[in-house]
Amino acid sequence: MIDVAIMGHGVVGSGVAEVLLKNAEHISEKAKTSINIKKILDLREFPGLTYSDKFTKDFNEILDDPDIRVVAEVMGGLHPAYEFTKALLESGKSVVSSNKELVAEKGDELLRIAEEKNVNYLFEASVGGGIPVLRPIAQCLAANGLYEVQGILNGTTNFIMTKMVSDGEPFEEVLAEAQRLGYAEKDPTADVEGHDACRKICILAALAFGKHVYPKDVYTEGITKITSADIQYADFAGCVIKLIGRARMADNGKCSVTVYPAFVPKKNQLAHVEDVFNAVMVRGDAVGDVMFYGRGAGKLPTASAVVADIIDAVKHLSARKYLSWAPAEDGYVSDHTEDTVRLYVRVKADKCRDCLRAKAEELFGELQLLGRNGEAGDELAFITPFASEKQLMAQLAKLNGTVLSTIRLLD
Ligand code: HSE
Repeated sequence: MIDVAIMGHGVVGSGVAEVLLKNAEHISEKAKTSINIKKILDLREFPGLTYSDKFTKDFNEILDDPDIRVVAEVMGGLHPAYEFTKALLESGKSVVSSNKELVAEKGDELLRIAEEKNVNYLFEASVGGGIPVLRPIAQCLAANGLYEVQGILNGTTNFIMTKMVSDGEPFEEVLAEAQRLGYAEKDPTADVEGHDACRKICILAALAFGKHVYPKDVYTEGITKITSADIQYADFAGCVIKLIGRARMADNGKCSVTVYPAFVPKKNQLAHVEDVFNAVMVRGDAVGDVMFYGRGAGKLPTASAVVADIIDAVKHLSARKYLSWAPAEDGYVSDHTEDTVRLYVRVKADKCRDCLRAKAEELFGELQLLGRNGEAGDELAFITPFASEKQLMAQLAKLNGTVLSTIRLLD
């Protein structure tokens, strides 16, 4: 029997306890030993559970217990999760985590400590909830030179965009539903402003390309400025709007990493990823394109990934697993305004729509014009040709109108 501990008894932590207890028999067969939850760390009281006796408010009861070999950190947030994880790894315990914020900020350091101590730091649940994606990238695709990862990485925003498009429900109502279902972060700003997706693309980029990518270096834009007019114009263009995280490796060894809402053509598989589902597409020089799809948030899907990591850690108590990457030098992440893109643009004319259109054609050449029901008489919507984002923005500044929206196209 191996003793484990769980730090945090929120949505994910309670799911981890539930899965470990409910599937105990099957899990012990997989782990080749039974797994006993010895302690659960949480400052709150949880009376009336079958395992209420396991709770502690004192981290040291876990740290100082030599029988506890594996700890699940499912508390979320940077502090004190960082200090706790560091102390546990340094004391020779393996840690498994769903904490994407911590991995994205401190992954290189924590992985180095795990390596020095010959223990494991595993975090499959930090990206894509229940979807197995990190292990396959690190193991099954190891033969490839990977050059791009892109995907829908946040369940809450995908749920919101899906409901806004298909059911016409207002933003606030759908967000409240996502919170009720346990999809959203404690502070849903991290979801709707793209920070959660940013942390996940940082982890994917680090794993795919071998160097840490810090969230502060990633251009990040959320979905809060998307209007129903944009959604209608996207439909006219044969697209849907999705929050896309993307990381690309350039020939010069620099990496482009971005998170923003994008027009996704309906012929692209990502356009059909709906509700809380996430999808991650990985491009490799041998395998071509590989797509991972599944539930990206929620109690049991996330617990499924955490418990799988616990089993893996228990099976490899004195062997290192494959996850690792190096710190990155300054300037490793390139300036996103140098990326070549096409933009959807919605503009309100200063004087007349025809003058605006003439100016836009002068600046961009022939335009792909868009339309929608109820379009205002002074509004012009179009898609630009390909150019660097910097150049397109400079041209937009010369238009004789007010730019209301710009959204990049996913090509
Ligand atoms: N808030 C996150 C999401 C949870 O909605 O995707 C899973 O990481």
